[in-house]
Amino acid sequence: MLNIAVVGATGLVGNEMISEIHRLITDQYKITALASSRSAGRTITINDHQYQVEELTTEIDFGQFDYAVFSAGGDTSRNFAKLFADAGCYVIDNSSAFRFEDECSLIVPEINFESYHLKSPIIANPNCSTIQSVLAIAPLVDFGIEVIDYTTYQSVSGSGLNGINELKTAVNDFYPKPITNNVIPQIDRFLENGNTFEEQKMIDETIKILNLNNIEITATCARVPVYYGHGVNIKVTFTEPINFEQISAALVDSPAISYLKDYSTYVTQLEVADTDHVYVSRIRQVGKRSISMFVVGNNIKKGAATNSVQIIKKLIKENNHA
Ligand code: A2P
Repeated sequence: MLNIAVVGATGLVGNEMISEIHRLITDQYKITALASSRSAGRTITINDHQYQVEELTTEIDFGQFDYAVFSAGGDTSRNFAKLFADAGCYVIDNSSAFRFEDECSLIVPEINFESYHLKSPIIANPNCSTIQSVLAIAPLVDFGIEVIDYTTYQSVSGSGLNGINELKTAVNDFYPKPITNNVIPQIDRFLENGNTFEEQKMIDETIKILNLNNIEITATCARVPVYYGHGVNIKVTFTEPINFEQISAALVDSPAISYLKDYSTYVTQLEVADTDHVYVSRIRQVGKRSISMFVVGNNIKKGAATNSVQIIKKLIKENNHA
């Protein structure tokens, strides 16, 4: 029987990871729920299954685990992921700690699962906004992309329980400015080049996942007073004048996205609360060489937990555990 560790099991994404393991993994498995000393001994109930939370410490027998999914912040990943990996366990990490380590792959399974071969057993799960964006851009790469402009509308669940609580209580003690009735054009800290870390992650991760070179990417990431779901407006400029019907056909043909071809229909963030589909709508041509589209996805599911568990599912198949 597989032993799957969920690190950060008490958090928003951790809870969803357990739920997605129930939904997607068909092999025999047990789940070990791990979190900090604050939650050790607590019982969490997910889909009528109860799990007693254990404290993550260096004293654990890491060799008992086959797969581990981490969603407990970068420090926990940096301190513990290698201990699991050295004991023979695959680690799927939701933090940004390993995304740009050369030997670690950064995977969206529908796009680049094969990149895990011959690399570190630590696999990075991309940033939530990046995942839904690259799913919409991947079918267009062969047309020759010159520039990508991102503008995001990101929900508070992207900040975990702290973000949810701040929108619920309207007490401003977590975000840099009030989120109630507001839009905050800052996610994560500022870097010296003027980008926020979130914006830089979208730029660098897009390049790594889609293997794009000589491309210019801008990103402006904003937090909006929405509980679940991220929206991303994407303008893609191609190297040559485009044939819009060909672009549209490439999106229709992609099984990884739900494409709303009729330009007057669209899906909003409220509508993705219970789905792992990524919806592409509002698509239109802009000038001779560009298109604009609006992409909506559930940041906790496809943007985090679902993507991680899909990676495990594929690894199980490859490793022939069945
Ligand atoms: P805990 O509940 O014990 O604090 P969220 O992002 O939704 O706030 O969730 C963060 C998750 O990361 C929680 O499960 C939290 O556990 C876990 N976590 C935070 N710090 C640590 C740590 N040092 N070791 C293990 N888990 C941690």
